[in-house]
Amino acid sequence: MPMTPNDVVLAVEDLRKTYGATRAVDGVSFEVRRGEIFGILGPNGAGKTTTVECLQGLRRPDAGEIRILGLDPARDLAVVKRRIGSQLQESALPDRIKVWEALDLFSASVDGAAPWESLIDDWGLRAKRNAQFGSLSGGQKQRLLVALALVNRPEVVFLDEMTTGMDPVARRVAWSLIERIRDDGATVVLVTHFMDEAERLCDRAAIIQAGKVVAIGTPDELRSTHGDTVTVTFNGDEKDRALAAKVQGVESATIDETAAVVSPSAGAASTEGGIEARGRGPIGVRIAASLAKAGREPADYAVTRPTLEDVYLAITGDVDADEDTDRHAAKGATP
Ligand SMILES: Nc1ncnc2c1ncn2[C@@H]1O[C@H](COP(=O)(O)OP(=O)(O)OP(=O)(O)O)[C@@H](O)[C@H]1O
Ligand SMILES: [Mg+2]
Repeated sequence: MPMTPNDVVLAVEDLRKTYGATRAVDGVSFEVRRGEIFGILGPNGAGKTTTVECLQGLRRPDAGEIRILGLDPARDLAVVKRRIGSQLQESALPDRIKVWEALDLFSASVDGAAPWESLIDDWGLRAKRNAQFGSLSGGQKQRLLVALALVNRPEVVFLDEMTTGMDPVARRVAWSLIERIRDDGATVVLVTHFMDEAERLCDRAAIIQAGKVVAIGTPDELRSTHGDTVTVTFNGDEKDRALAAKVQGVESATIDETAAVVSPSAGAASTEGGIEARGRGPIGVRIAASLAKAGREPADYAVTRPTLEDVYLAITGDVDADEDTDRHAAKGATP
């Protein structure tokens, strides 16, 4: 579908922010479209929080253009604040304030606030309605901070490490609530360290490293642009390895003593004589066909594609944080 300018709710161009000698954000550009969940991923200190703070008008950038909902947050801060939702830092709430008081206070300060009683239920805070903020557990605090970000029915919501501290069930509940917010038409910018969360939730994501965007795309695009590697592991010997190595798309085929081949019949992984073939395209099918043609059927095989976490680690894993070289340099596809 062709994209009209209206579809872009957030555009940032060459954003820069320095703290003393630290170049926290060093030329970040990207666009977020209406109704997307847009992820911002990257190592500690990469500049993610600084970036989203600048986008919300909470910090003044040194340079760069920001348009959010067609507005410049530096010039139209009051209007921008009314139309966006921000997940506050824990330190922003007094310890003594009660859960319901915080929600009531926030909704009294905005026009057309969402009914906060339903936010209490949505975010699992009913039992803690009268509890003081300071007495909540880490995950409960986090849930209240997200609920507060939604009180003004925002068009764009910024969530910085939304699920940190949440238990596995609470995380899944949070994911489906965020999807519901997106489905209701809001746009979500989500900073996260959890690759499973990004893979499940984000329509697109940017990986930021040392203040620069080093990769951007849908989770599938990120997985495939960084070497769409399929690893096929099967039982066999040197003859099978040689056959596999010749198959179109296969880049390497090695005998790997430790390769585990899932064997449903045995009900467990067998670790003997795995052959590991790596390459692009439907190499699993081609290898199986080639072996069958030679009358050599693999006892079993498993195909694994890289996860977003594999890609993230390949991009960010082995770079010195202080290094100031080209971080786009292609790396081997080894996880
Ligand atoms: N108020 C500040 N004063 C000085 N330096 C700061 C300040 N805020 C952030 N920085 C520095 O800027 C860099 C980027 O920090 P930022 O908080 O944006 O990173 P981040 O990507 O959000 O990291 P994390 O994943 O740990 O939250 C870091 O080197 C940090 O030390
Ligand atoms: Mg941060």
